[in-house]
This record gives sequence, structure tokens and C-alpha cells, in this order.
Amino acid sequence: MAKEREAPFRVGGIVEPPYFVGREKDLQILGQALRTLSHNVLLLGPRRFGKSSLLWNLRRQAAPEPDLLVPYVHCRDMAAPADLYRGLVQGLLTELEAKRRLPGLWERFRLVFTAGVLRALRALEELGGSLGEWGRVYLRFREAEVDEKALIRAAFSYPKRVAEEHGVRVVFLLDEFQEVARFDGFVFSALKKELDAPGNVRFFFSGSSLGLLREVFLREDSPLFLMVARYELGPLSRAEAVPFVVERLSRAGYAAEEAVAVRVYELAAGIPFYLQKLGLTLVQRALLLGRRRLSVDDVDAAFGEMLAELDSEFEVRWLSEFSPLQRRILRELARGPAGPTALAQALGLKPQDLSSTLARLRAEMVLSRTEEGYRLTDAVFARWLAER
Ligand SMILES: Nc1ncnc2c1ncn2[C@@H]1O[C@H](COP(=O)(O)OP(=O)(O)O)[C@@H](O)[C@H]1O
Ligand SMILES: [Mg+2]
Repeated sequence: MAKEREAPFRVGGIVEPPYFVGREKDLQILGQALRTLSHNVLLLGPRRFGKSSLLWNLRRQAAPEPDLLVPYVHCRDMAAPADLYRGLVQGLLTELEAKRRLPGLWERFRLVFTAGVLRALRALEELGGSLGEWGRVYLRFREAEVDEKALIRAAFSYPKRVAEEHGVRVVFLLDEFQEVARFDGFVFSALKKELDAPGNVRFFFSGSSLGLLREVFLREDSPLFLMVARYELGPLSRAEAVPFVVERLSRAGYAAEEAVAVRVYELAAGIPFYLQKLGLTLVQRALLLGRRRLSVDDVDAAFGEMLAELDSEFEVRWLSEFSPLQRRILRELARGPAGPTALAQALGLKPQDLSSTLARLRAEMVLSRTEEGYRLTDAVFARWLAER
């Protein structure tokens, strides 16, 4: 049977090479912080800029190091502190199993969530040491002998004991951490204690809503202020994106001048998700038309098709995420960047009427501030809005 041709682009979800490109400097800087445990990190970037993929590839980079555990914990669906506890435990135990060749750790531990008390206690007995103790905290919580605060304290404080016992370093990657920011502020005082504490455990937090994260990390009176190094993820550069598009197209059997890839890069504004989606739309179009050679016009046509595909998603975002004033601002800025004074003038308002709304949109990473003024961070959404 003929070997199946690999997909030219991959849209959505975490990507690895060959679909993951560039980010070498980010990988180097964050990889260094990871290996040396030099500090805790707050990774910020709008959605679709590739934060999860970057974290995942950081973790891959650390794969050959047997005493460096990098649990990846997605906080997206966490609704209560117990979910955070479970996420941290599962992440750490599955890493420990894999890197220290200790199969069955999680299998046994998870009985604290599912089995009767006696069976769970037996399993924890077998695990012994700090893992056994860690699990017993959950059982006490289950039996309402201790409260959520104790559970959260345990979630964050045990990893360093486990690390010591097993002679490993641990860096937790906590993706979409803003979900946890909705919990009671106690999570953060517990976390602060850990970030302060000596030991071989660090945390990399990632999120796409500065509004929520800021409450936690960046306010001066917030307990975690200045305890993390802030790292912002931007779009891919032209030098990263263009060769990637050329290479993917040619692998898929399409001939294209560099100008074609440049156009893809420009229309996607370097935003990784759109780069891949536009590439894919372009290939699908070529397939449909039976073409092997692609032109800049094809890219423009594919871009229109991509906008049409994103239409309902953008429509929902437009209608559900923004207030009337925010919409007026966005509509104006979709026509081109503007400073606060020009923007206020265009809307017939005073600059001070806008300042808190602008601050908020920036915190949500919907707007960014550039030399030419404010602009929509999501350039494709901006195009959709401008054409609407
Ligand atoms: N470094 C990269 N190179 C190429 N494509 C990428 C890269 N990072 C992300 N992508 C693309 O963007 C999509 C979204 O990436 P993801 O990591 O989920 O972003 P985020 O977590 O910031 O929302 C991926 O499915 C992939 O198509
Ligand atoms: Mg993500």
C-alpha cells in the first residue's frame, strides 16, 4: 500500500515538529530556566499564538533528562480546588513513572478518588513515603476531616518532598492558569508559600487573559507579585514562518514562489494558528481546482475562504465577549491603529471616557499598544471586522 501522504498543515491543538516551527529563542531562554530551576515563569500570550505548543515542546526538550520531571497540567476544565490537586498529582506521578521506571504509581494512587477508604489506604500503604502521605490528605478531605485549604496546601507542598525522596527536579507547566485564578484567593497564598520555599520544584504558569492573571501575579498587593518572571509570546517572525510554509507546501507536492509564502505570512500576521489554517485552506483549494502551482492570488482567495469559515466563530466572539463601547472601539481600530486621542475623537468621546475600557481590552490581550497606537492583536479578526 502506498505510504499515506502526511497532512501539509495542522490546525488546532498542540503541535510538534515538523508542524512546530521556530521559537528557538523562546525554547532556549525558557529551557534554561527550566533546567536550572532559576525561577518561576508566567508565560503570556493571546490565544492561538502557540503557548500550549511551546510548553509542550519545552517538555519534549527535557525528555532525555531522567532526573528532570516536567509535568504538563491543563487547568482549562478545573472547577474546584480538588481538580487542581488531582491535576498536580497525576501530572507528577505519570512523569515519575516514565522517567524513573516505576510503573503503576498513578494507577494505585488514583484509588483515593474512586475506591472505598480501606482499599485506597492499602494502595497508599504500598506506595509508602511522601506519596502515601500525599494521598492520605485527600482521603481526609473526602471524609471531611480537613477542608479545601488543607487540600490545596498539600497539592503544592508535597511535590518538593517527592522530588527530594526520588532525587529529581520538577517543573510544573500549568497551562491556562487563569481558570484557577477564578478560585478562592487562598490558592494564591498557598502558592506563594511554595514559590518562596527552597526545594527542587518550580512552576511555569501560562494564560491568555491578563485580566485574571494580573489579579494573581501582577498587582502590587497581590501575594505573587514579583515572584515570577513574566514572558510574553508574540507572533512568529517572517524568518520563521516563510521557510516553514514553503517547506510544507512543497512536501505536499505544490510548487510556489516565495512570494506565495510571504503572502500567507502577511495575511496571517505571523499568528501560528492562522498560518496553518490559511496554508491548509490554500492546499484544499488547489486540490479542488486540480492545481499544482500556486500564486499570490490563490492565497488571497484562500484567505477569503478562511474568513468565511471563521465567520460564525468570530460572530459569537463579537456578540458575546464585548460591551457596546468595546465594540465601538474595536470597530474603529479594525480600520487601522490609532492613539487614544485620535480614537476618542473618532468616537466623539473624551480620552478619559475610554481609558478604563482600553486598559481592560489590553489586559484581555484583545488590543496591543504599538508605536502607531492601539491595534487589534488578532489581525485576522480585525480583517473580518473591517469587512463586515
Ligand atoms: N511554533 C509553531 N509553529 C507552527 N504552528 C504553530 C506553532 N505553535 C502553534 N502553532 C499552530 O497554532 C495552533 C494553536 O497553538 P496552541 O499552542 O494551541 O496556541 P495557544 O495555546 O496559544 O492557544 C496549533 O494548533 C498550530 O496549528
Ligand atoms: Mg493553549
